[in-house]
Amino acid sequence: MSERRSLRGARILLCVTGSIAAYKAVSLLRALTRDGAEVSVVMTPSATRFVTPLTFETLSGRPVRHGLFDGAETMPHLRATDEADLVLVAPATANCLAKCALGVADDLVSTLLLAARCPIVMTPAMDGDMWEHPALVSHVRAMRERGVVVLEPEDGPLASGLIGKGRFPAEPTVMEAVAACLDRRRDWAGQRVLVSAGPTREPIDAVRFVTNASSGKMGYAVADAAARRGADVVLVSGPTALAPPTGVTTVDVLTADEMAREMEARFAWATVLVMTAAVGDFRPRRPSSVKIKKHDWDGAPLALERTPDILASLSRKRTHQILVGFAAESDNLLDNGRKKLRQKDLDFIVINRVTGADSALGGDTSDAIFLPRHGQAMPVERLPKRLLADRLLDTVRDQCLTHPSAPALESNREIRRIH
Ligand code: CTP
Repeated sequence: MSERRSLRGARILLCVTGSIAAYKAVSLLRALTRDGAEVSVVMTPSATRFVTPLTFETLSGRPVRHGLFDGAETMPHLRATDEADLVLVAPATANCLAKCALGVADDLVSTLLLAARCPIVMTPAMDGDMWEHPALVSHVRAMRERGVVVLEPEDGPLASGLIGKGRFPAEPTVMEAVAACLDRRRDWAGQRVLVSAGPTREPIDAVRFVTNASSGKMGYAVADAAARRGADVVLVSGPTALAPPTGVTTVDVLTADEMAREMEARFAWATVLVMTAAVGDFRPRRPSSVKIKKHDWDGAPLALERTPDILASLSRKRTHQILVGFAAESDNLLDNGRKKLRQKDLDFIVINRVTGADSALGGDTSDAIFLPRHGQAMPVERLPKRLLADRLLDTVRDQCLTHPSAPALESNREIRRIH
């Protein structure tokens, strides 16, 4: 087994669910804290039947929650997951895996699994027949597709007296998986990422404007993912209804011209540009500064002119930046995306369908085609945008940032810092 780095400073939320293997979470808690992690424990009510909260409280030095309505805090699940670098469910029962796969939130553990935006590692422990049941197999597959790390249980004697696959994975395996997940979370350290998001809004008069259906969700997800993975991030955002991601400098703009100005001002600083914004291509040629009276309307204010192509213009000024563009298409997705990649001289393009039931515009989920400049097109299945953002960062990291002309990721420096 390769040498693992220490977990010093990592904030881990350990969720204990109701399996006989709950006693193994006690030893795991010891190992995590010995390795420098700050561990908070949450239990399901049935887990408290196997091991008392007092055991975990004593060993973690922190209060243990096990009820959704415990204590004075109204939203414990949101605060707990916001403060965690990683959620570790150990042991994870069949019931817990099924609830997590389906998004059921009927106790504190399942609710915070739904609220978690950090990586989740699950260590199943159950009877072999349960692990092999088709329902569980499909739940585990669904979770893995969403990016949840579900470890394989081990073969051997089970609490039922039978021999089979279902044993809580060995402690070093769990520790290794936790460390690997945390490593990935700092893999963008040292990068300066400039992200644009949302629509732009071009005035017709003092109260009316031309815009599009972009929600900004994809750009906000990319900004959030990059920041959580250690990058310095500036997000230049058109008008959206979204809260700015934590740890990201957000600059609000309205028009394409304003967005162009703010992006240009920060382009030299950036090492990676992710141009997610649905920049309006047209604007009213002569917007009115007052509200136009309807009896004065002659259609003239809707004469449109082109806005600047921000990405194409930044691409011409590039010195060292990696450029990631998006292509919003209704047909011939791959051909049109490939053309944009070439015309705007990009390193990578994300191609989205923006018409029909599959439209990427506005929704919480999207599929996509990833097309790197040097490499094959990669279709990506429909995912929540936050997970699609992580997948994008994984792929850009592998395809572009390790390219000889690209600025090197500084994850090694980060690893040394944590040691
Ligand atoms: N883009 C931009 N400035 C514009 C228009 C688009 O920077 N005025 C960027 C988008 O943010 C995206 C990429 O260019 O990263 C492609 O945008 P898209 O809307 O798909 O295509 P267009 O270049 O506008 O071309 P068309 O409308 O003809 O498809």
